[in-house]
Amino acid sequence: MNNSAYKKAAVIGYPIAQSLSPMMHKHWMQQVGIEGEYEAIEVAPDDLIAFVDEARRIGLSGFNVTVPHKTAIVPYLDKIAPLAKQMGAVNTVKIAADGMLSGFNTDGIGLVKHLKSSVPGYPSDKPALILGAGGAARAAALGLLTENIPLVMITNRTREKAEAIARDIGRGRMAVVDWNARMDGVSAAGVIVNTTVLGMNGQPALDLDLSSAGKDTVVYDIVYKPLETKLLAAARARGLRTVDGLGMLVHQGAAAFKIWFGVDVGFDAELREKLEGALSC
Ligand code: ATR
Repeated sequence: MNNSAYKKAAVIGYPIAQSLSPMMHKHWMQQVGIEGEYEAIEVAPDDLIAFVDEARRIGLSGFNVTVPHKTAIVPYLDKIAPLAKQMGAVNTVKIAADGMLSGFNTDGIGLVKHLKSSVPGYPSDKPALILGAGGAARAAALGLLTENIPLVMITNRTREKAEAIARDIGRGRMAVVDWNARMDGVSAAGVIVNTTVLGMNGQPALDLDLSSAGKDTVVYDIVYKPLETKLLAAARARGLRTVDGLGMLVHQGAAAFKIWFGVDVGFDAELREKLEGALSC
């Protein structure tokens, strides 16, 4: 049962130690006056079903799901929202008072909400370009397709993975650009989104020449460790508008908070300061 005044939520993953979600959700709980707790719980793949039973038993309002459980959780759900179904992956589970589990995916919506709040007049009349074809790319594509963007281009080192995303969710509004021809995508794009791991601490930088980008192009990197990747620094040096990855994390979290507790929360300066502090440790 989870209808008591004291609310409990969690994030599960394997490993989970570095999650910023507890800091974020505790901030919001305090801010809106919800008494409760939000824990990071390490759940090994073989223990997922036991966790689901336990979550119902202890009355969690819901939980976030991260690697490697985003797809594995699907068979345990009673309901799945359309976007999560299209993603084939769930990042948020709501547990109703009767114990029914509903799955959602707030990643794509989080990305678009952050883009729109950071750059209100972003060039939505031009195609967008996504680099990468993992789960984050699929979320980014689904998010961008909910907007009025004419075309979502996708490019990936392994072309077949980009083709699979375009085929699965594109409905004629996605085009695959060859990785070696990604410069062509750059010159056509209004928004460029890096969803590859390149630029992350410990990874090589993303090799992307921005010299042909239009002046109004927005460069969005979902990497947030470090917050200013080489890609964003290069974009800024060219006078292009940039969006860092922290906001996507926060907005997907805010969407989950709304699903569980019915309250709108956002990305205030105090939260940014707390998260940036944690990242710099
Ligand atoms: P997630 O599911 O979190 O998005 P992922 O599935 O591991 O992560 O995807 C990582 C992305 O980074 C992929 O698009 C990967 O390209 P491939 O599909 O070709 O593997 C991309 N990536 C990783 N290392 C890369 C590299 N050295 N050069 C280009 N792309 C790279």
